[in-house]
Amino acid sequence: MEWNFNNKSKYKKILDKTKEEKRADIHSFHRYFGKLIPAIPRAFIKQFTNEGDVVGDLFSGSGTVAVESKLLNRNFIGCEINPLSTFISNVKTRSYNIEILTSFNKEIELKLYDEEYIKTLKKGKVPFCVNLEHWFRKEVINDLLIIRATTNDVVLSSKLKKSDKQLYIEFYDAVISSIIRNVSNADPRHVFPGISKRIRALEAEGKINKDAKKSFINAIKKRTKYFNDYQNLNETSIKIINGDSVNDKFTKYKNTVDLFVTNPPYISSVRYIETMKLEMYWLEYLKNQTEYSNLAKIMVGNDKVAKKDIDDHLLTPYKEINEKIEELRQIDSKNAYIVAKYFNDMEKVIKNMAIMLKTKGKVVVKISESKVKKIKIDTGKFLTIIAKNNGFKLVDVFLDEINENSRSLTTARNTYSDIILNDNIIIWEKDTNE
Ligand SMILES: C[S@@+](CC[C@H](N)C(=O)[O-])C[C@H]1O[C@@H](n2cnc3c(N)ncnc32)[C@H](O)[C@@H]1O
Repeated sequence: MEWNFNNKSKYKKILDKTKEEKRADIHSFHRYFGKLIPAIPRAFIKQFTNEGDVVGDLFSGSGTVAVESKLLNRNFIGCEINPLSTFISNVKTRSYNIEILTSFNKEIELKLYDEEYIKTLKKGKVPFCVNLEHWFRKEVINDLLIIRATTNDVVLSSKLKKSDKQLYIEFYDAVISSIIRNVSNADPRHVFPGISKRIRALEAEGKINKDAKKSFINAIKKRTKYFNDYQNLNETSIKIINGDSVNDKFTKYKNTVDLFVTNPPYISSVRYIETMKLEMYWLEYLKNQTEYSNLAKIMVGNDKVAKKDIDDHLLTPYKEINEKIEELRQIDSKNAYIVAKYFNDMEKVIKNMAIMLKTKGKVVVKISESKVKKIKIDTGKFLTIIAKNNGFKLVDVFLDEINENSRSLTTARNTYSDIILNDNIIIWEKDTNE
């Protein structure tokens, strides 16, 4: 099939029908910018796989595809570079015992308001965070330390097995992460943390009330209920690797995956870790600024470029893509490099997917066209050119209405990309035996 949007796509109909289903509550565990709508993995997992099959996502983010795989009794293998995202998605896809969580929750609530208990509690150290006191009120910092020490204490002094204790501590840590943005001074409506005029005005009127203990208690109760979604499911294997899908090797998983569903990062569309920096600092996934910039530099589509790289005039092995890169280079050589690097990195990920997939296995990609310096880049079309050169054929491509979540993400304080025009849903099939 040639690259043409199919407006009679049967897969679009299937997807639109699935969008009418109620999404599982567990997807709301943690806010994450650039999340897939769950209907996308749900529709295609049902369409292209059977129970017990293996689904993959090499940009697994907050784990939307992993969650849907589990809900549909499929196994899952994923990879994600951000250690906090990996952590959250691992917690989200575990089958926690709701009775145990409920009993811990009660004990935690009592202890958090027990002054005598708090006096004896050994609090941990305040984590490193650039401008900590700009982002958090003093009493919030103190409460967050108390919360973490209390949850650790409650779980560790229980009768659970040692290995299980760790899993429950991780549940509470993931919930702490989920409330960080709301208890910080940053405007919760913004993608990137920032203290907006709106927030300052509300603050001046005394309308901002930050109660970390109350937020935490509400959050643990709510999230405990979300695990009801996993009751009565078969035992499946959910594996999410914290790694680099561009440079890591996945030969161990050769010919094991039946279907990939993925939404790769957009070209320089967002600095994902900036959106999550407060949570990452608080949970100590970033211990200093060097760790922050090292991680930022290896994320696909990032805009951290060294001068010497720009001078290299990077291209791809593909004529059509190179023409765009050259057109862009006339205007802005840094962005030309970013685009070339993006497609070279994505080729490595496509090769990894080709290795992992079984023959006839499918890849469903959700991606948008981008505008870089007013030049339109047909990202989906270009990725398909690359895929065809790596053992895939194009099965279908259609347009999907853009989802609000990704719109806010891509238009937010973003100097490189323009507004995203359309979401493409692309289906490839592995058609070689290699
Ligand atoms: C659009 S998001 C995917 C969101 C995910 N589908 C969800 O619903 O949460 C893209 C993800 O790719 C990750 N990523 C960027 N570069 C990566 C790399 N080199 N290896 C693995 N993951 C990477 C980002 O951290 C981000 O979580």
